[in-house]
Amino acid sequence: MLMVSTIMASVSLTEDKPSSPILQNGVPRQAPISIPVRRFLRIRQQMTNEIFFEIHQGLPREGPGRNKYTKKAFLMLPKLARPRILDVGCGPGGPTLELARLSQGHVVGIDIHRPFLEGLVRKIKEVGFSNCVQVVTCSMFEPGFADNSFDLVWAEGSIYLIGFENGLQTWRRLLKPGGFLVVHEMAWLRPGPPPEIHEYWRELYPGIVTVSENLEMIPASGYEPIGHFTLPEDACWLEYYGPLAKRLQKLRRKYVDHPEALAVIDNEQQEIDMFRKYNQWYGSVFFVMQKPLIQPDILCP
Ligand SMILES: C[S@@+](CC[C@H](N)C(=O)[O-])C[C@H]1O[C@@H](n2cnc3c(N)ncnc32)[C@H](O)[C@@H]1O
Repeated sequence: MLMVSTIMASVSLTEDKPSSPILQNGVPRQAPISIPVRRFLRIRQQMTNEIFFEIHQGLPREGPGRNKYTKKAFLMLPKLARPRILDVGCGPGGPTLELARLSQGHVVGIDIHRPFLEGLVRKIKEVGFSNCVQVVTCSMFEPGFADNSFDLVWAEGSIYLIGFENGLQTWRRLLKPGGFLVVHEMAWLRPGPPPEIHEYWRELYPGIVTVSENLEMIPASGYEPIGHFTLPEDACWLEYYGPLAKRLQKLRRKYVDHPEALAVIDNEQQEIDMFRKYNQWYGSVFFVMQKPLIQPDILCP
């Protein structure tokens, strides 16, 4: 769901002060935008956001993944006794609920999109997990939890929003010494991707790097690597791109006369088409790591 960051970023852009027409690094800035034009842009942005969330609301997952791969990553950890788990960017809560089942612990899901959280609260009640799963509206950039609060921090398909290295560093303080971090992140699976897909991701997500580059960031961010694996193709199609493609078909009929809505639909379709064409070059990779029990910064004054 890489569009969401683009959309949220552009919302705040439209709310910025009008830019000055002076040169910046030798490049002329945009002319100031008049108030009616800004109002029009804001309304258009709202419509874009609405159609974006209409596309995504109610899908089983908001990114590649399946419970069996959540389980595979979870089983790479040593046995944890009733752990306290934070699921970052939990969205509709596929991984959140699976972690509660697997761990017998307490899971806190955080997200900033309330309709996802409201849907998740309904599911929590349906499956009778109200005592062990909680949701909090909170940003991954400033998670308002005390240091050393969690045994495990989990993030499926959401670390790209903050950036891999930044996520590792920002969330480290939340883990108890010896606690674990599990994330999955889009990465280049081989060097030298074809220009079309390289350019596509360079524009949409410049933070995408190779698996080995991600692996290098793990010790550099104060963790010990435990293991990693790439999500197979079925993880992308069955619960994410498949349901998303069906939703796009339906909405394309509904919005046949709405060019703005169709543009958002086309964008989403392009992500699916790119994955179909180039999935041997990139994919989602689970990275499992541990915050050391003995902190190097304590050992080295
Ligand atoms: C690609 S989805 C992944 C959702 C879920 N983990 C899954 O696998 O289905 C990314 C999620 O991050 C959420 N998100 C976006 N910005 C966020 C922020 N600043 N803090 C917390 N969550 C955020 C989105 O609302 C969305 O639910």
